[in-house]
Amino acid sequence: MTTTLFIKANNRSAEHSVSVKMYDAFLSSYKESHPQDSIVEVNLLHEQLPYLGATMIAGNYKFAQGMTLTPEEEAEQRIVRKHLEQFLAADKVVIAFPLWNLTVPAVLHTYLDYLHQPRKTFKYTAEGMVGLLPDKKVALLNARGGVYADHEEFAVNFVKKHLQVFGIRDITTIVIEGHNQFPDRSHSIIMEGLRNTALAAKLF
Ligand SMILES: Cc1cc2nc3c(=O)[nH]c(=O)nc-3n(C[C@H](O)[C@H](O)[C@H](O)COP(=O)(O)O)c2cc1C
Repeated sequence: MTTTLFIKANNRSAEHSVSVKMYDAFLSSYKESHPQDSIVEVNLLHEQLPYLGATMIAGNYKFAQGMTLTPEEEAEQRIVRKHLEQFLAADKVVIAFPLWNLTVPAVLHTYLDYLHQPRKTFKYTAEGMVGLLPDKKVALLNARGGVYADHEEFAVNFVKKHLQVFGIRDITTIVIEGHNQFPDRSHSIIMEGLRNTALAAKLF
């Protein structure tokens, strides 16, 4: 059975949020077209996600080496390993996120930090880092109020860069953009984007 993990990095209501509307449109279309899949949903803003820092870095190292952890390191590793194992177990992953203050919500940055584990998601070789998840399929759903040139965009590009480190190449990207920049066309931009989102879900 295919397991599909749906990650939402937004706790605004669908009424107020375009990226949450995208998440909902993708999910309902996906459920209709993939009735046999097992679906797991995580809203990162409903989780307790400690930041990467000294305790987590030490805990990551000690866990990987089979060493004894302090109670604080152990508590953080339980959270890190839960999300890491859930990501590894998924055949497909959908990540919905807004552009907030030029980048991704901080919780998504923190979540991606948890996935950077040598011998789990990548390995070091003489030629550099090699990703270990070449078979995973990912869909990125992003909404941004303005229109951005590719080289000035630090949310979708940021997430893609992480996925590339993990060796993930099969990435579908759906973006709704410009609905704040062009208020007179806002409604049609969002409606067309949501139609594309629902269609992409059928093909994913
Ligand atoms: C806190 C916050 C920060 C934002 N920062 C930006 C930004 O830097 N650039 C931009 O084009 N739009 C920005 N926007 C607009 C969002 O990109 C827009 O609302 C988009 O639909 C994604 O957010 P949403 O899913 O919550 O609607 C921001 C919106 C909020 C609420």
